Amino acid sequence: MPQLLTVEVLEQVRLITLQRPEALNALNTQLLSELAEQLGIAEADSATRVVVITGSRKAFAAGADINEMAERDLVGILNDPRLAAWQRITAFSKPLVAAVNGYALGGGCELAMHADILIAGSDARFGQPEINLGIMPGAGGTQRLLRAVGKSMAMQMVLTGEPIDARQAQQAGLVSEVTEPELTVERALAIAQRIAAKAPLAVRLAKEALLKAQDTDLASGLRFERHAFTLLAGTQDRAEGIAAFQQKRQPRFTGA
Ligand code: CAA
Repeated sequence: MPQLLTVEVLEQVRLITLQRPEALNALNTQLLSELAEQLGIAEADSATRVVVITGSRKAFAAGADINEMAERDLVGILNDPRLAAWQRITAFSKPLVAAVNGYALGGGCELAMHADILIAGSDARFGQPEINLGIMPGAGGTQRLLRAVGKSMAMQMVLTGEPIDARQAQQAGLVSEVTEPELTVERALAIAQRIAAKAPLAVRLAKEALLKAQDTDLASGLRFERHAFTLLAGTQDRAEGIAAFQQKRQPRFTGA
């Protein structure tokens, strides 16, 4: 049983809530490993279509656990078990929606950027303050942030350590919607439920194709898209989607 997070199964959507309030959900090894494990369970469960991850009103997550980091030397960091957990989180193939309130700093901002869709409460703060500790981001904070907000904003955030607010994050493209803080999770769940009603294989391949756009050249990305599009022609859900449109009824997607 996880101890530092809770999981609620809401039909086809799982809501994972980080629960380490005494440290503002700082991502120690245990919390990160529990999260990776729960995403593994969600991945294997065919009834789960989408996962929403959230924290508390005060903090989504305030970074890696600095006290734990203090105990690791160079060799400790080289052999850091957290890397495997991050890789498992990155590999999650179903849509991941983050509902962010309060602080999303350091590893917390990096975790939010692992999500496919970010919904932020108006009080959210996104930042990479590692520079204040004499270090730099190490879980994607330079690579994903630059791709999300562009060079100038990423440089400013990483080199000054100063966070941006929810509106700036939305203007920069890091966040798709800003809500009242008390509605963030509700909105994220509503988006997740919408996605959960779609054809799972189409959702999965569309996510993969969109992520490819970030790390491949246009010609390769377009080739991948065409292959994925063609593959879907072999699915029952494509036939169902088109038949439902023609018969003027709602489709019933099964994932086949
Ligand atoms: N690690 C460990 N403990 C943390 C923590 C963290 N990242 N962030 C907060 N906490 C703890 C505080 O130590 C404090 O504990 P105590 O009550 O035992 O003193 C508790 O959470 C509450 O925090 P504050 O009293 O500091 O709350 P605040 O409202 O005054 O300030 C804050 C909030 C601005 C987020 C401040 O806590 C802060 O600056 N935290 C550190 C943020 C940070 O530097 N994150 C980056 C970490 S490095 C990293 O993330 C690297 C990586 O991934 C590769």
